[in-house]
Amino acid sequence: MDAVEAILSRRSIRKYTSQPVPPELIEDLLRAATSAPSAGNEQPWHFVVIRDRKILNEIPKFHEYSRMLNEASVAVLVCGDLKEQRHEGFWIQDCSAATQNLLIAAHAKGLGAVWLGVYPIQKRIDGLRRLLGIPDHVMPLSLISIGYPAEQKPPADRYDASRIHHDHW
Ligand SMILES: Cc1cc2nc3c(=O)[nH]c(=O)nc-3n(C[C@H](O)[C@H](O)[C@H](O)COP(=O)(O)O)c2cc1C
Repeated sequence: MDAVEAILSRRSIRKYTSQPVPPELIEDLLRAATSAPSAGNEQPWHFVVIRDRKILNEIPKFHEYSRMLNEASVAVLVCGDLKEQRHEGFWIQDCSAATQNLLIAAHAKGLGAVWLGVYPIQKRIDGLRRLLGIPDHVMPLSLISIGYPAEQKPPADRYDASRIHHDHW
């Protein structure tokens, strides 16, 4: 699958088989995530790979749209390190780019994944801080639920020419 094909055919996958995802595959996804561009090449990201079934099952208790974690083999929490930011505030874009890279790589490797929003919802931030022991200077941005897909979705063509502006609005 080439890069554009992977981007165009990626969908949010929320149903998974019970097949475990091997750690080497997760490392491939993390390499894809950390290949993302970042402001001033600051790479402010940290990742928490969550495999512990008890921890995965705790998350839907404070994140109401994350029930698929009960079936997911693994989840990756993408966090931004807010300490010593040379490019104040850009951590959100940096960590979002890493999240999207990881999603596309997961799809290209035959996995199913979905981006679960964390920041800026305080209840989700606090819940993850408490559950995973995340330090105060690190902010969780997104949680990615991952497994082998048990659902298929067609590509979503969202191209809308009316949203494209040339030279002027
Ligand atoms: C910032 C962000 C937060 C999201 N949060 C959730 C979430 O909490 N739960 C969920 O099931 N999907 C979540 N999604 C996935 C979107 O619902 C999904 O991307 C959108 O419906 C488009 O569908 P697609 O990804 O299949 O193309 C989130 C996506 C983004 C970008």
